[in-house]
Amino acid sequence: MEFYLDTANLNAIDSALDLYPIAGVTTNPTILSKETMSDVFAHLKAIQKLLGPDRSLHVQTLSDTAEGIIAEAAVLRQHVGNTVYVKIPTTSEGLKAMKQLHKQGVRITATAITSKLQAYLAINAGADYVAPYVNRMENLDIDAMDVLSSIASYISNANSSTRIIAASFKNLAQINGAIDAGVHAVTIDPSFYTLACSSAHLQKTVDDFKADFEKAFGKDKTFLDL
Ligand code: E4P
Repeated sequence: MEFYLDTANLNAIDSALDLYPIAGVTTNPTILSKETMSDVFAHLKAIQKLLGPDRSLHVQTLSDTAEGIIAEAAVLRQHVGNTVYVKIPTTSEGLKAMKQLHKQGVRITATAITSKLQAYLAINAGADYVAPYVNRMENLDIDAMDVLSSIASYISNANSSTRIIAASFKNLAQINGAIDAGVHAVTIDPSFYTLACSSAHLQKTVDDFKADFEKAFGKDKTFLDL
């Protein structure tokens, strides 16, 4: 399982990289629009620098045509580097672009997926990752977990190397459900990592352990003091 950060906030990325086993960062136009920046390429390069060579950055194109998407992919690779994953919305034109970019060796994340067939087509078009949008599917009364498990089965049956990076989460239950459904990666807003690891109940558990140790070995004692 790979865990990604779904943010372009440099401070949040820096802190989360220090704390959690993070495989990379995903962005989209909305996520980028939330940050203050004068030069979007400089900002993306700053994210890439924080990530280092062993984690990946995914950046979404905006063009509606295959030609435009292919041209944007070239610009992104020129500015951010050839290791960038070009996120392409899985429209008909997006699929056309994926087929051509795959032949050129460009790394592709097929995004904005809300149906099984969209994912199957993206897999066959050569996407390295497919990104189903869990919360957006649930908003449309689509059984998101069924979609995820069908995509996972399709990949497994086809012996494909495409990985599922589930996205668009609005609560921990959706994240846990996606992992249970067999996805290979999840991209999550940093606040959910904090939420999962810092409940009042968890703090009480840690405090109770410390209190018991203290009774036996003295106030504020840790193994460093013994
Ligand atoms: C990440 O790759 C997606 O773009 C993101 O998770 C979409 O989230 P949203 O549905 O909250 O816009």
